[in-house]
Amino acid sequence: MVMPVRVCFICLGNICRSPTAEATMRRLLEKEQLTAHIEIDSAGTGDWHVGEPPDRRATAAAKRRGIEMGGRARRVVAKDFERFDYVIAMDRANRSDLLRLAPSPAGKAKVELFRNYDPVSPRDAEVPDPYYGQGDGFETVLDICEAASRGLLRDIRDNHSL
Ligand code: 4NP
Repeated sequence: MVMPVRVCFICLGNICRSPTAEATMRRLLEKEQLTAHIEIDSAGTGDWHVGEPPDRRATAAAKRRGIEMGGRARRVVAKDFERFDYVIAMDRANRSDLLRLAPSPAGKAKVELFRNYDPVSPRDAEVPDPYYGQGDGFETVLDICEAASRGLLRDIRDNHSL
């Protein structure tokens, strides 16, 4: 049995962007029949929403695309930098926080911005935080996550012979 590749998506609250990224990636992995080979999870750098389900606006927007969201918010911990092969930040503030939290150079090397896996995204672009926004912020997040998930899967396939 080959070890699965492990990916953790990180945002601030772990109720909007990172659970959306996780759900979008999971749907892609199901389509590609890779769920046994790639494990995914999500977490937040902040602790305000720990234990809560995803934001209902995010859940509703995902459902309209046939994407099911789930899980409960948790905060990122030092062990995550050992357990996961990819530690993926939604925005540059998350990335800075993760680089500060990573307990080793090997852990820091696992940190990357999600959109940097999307070949058509500008360098170091962010997944914008929809929490306080109006309108279609959650749709934008889904569009971004779908494109970046495809790029991330390409990277995983190339680097892990899947
Ligand atoms: P997320 O969105 O980081 O995408 O989960 C947020 C959720 C909550 C807060 C900020 C962003 N908050 O300040 O409570």
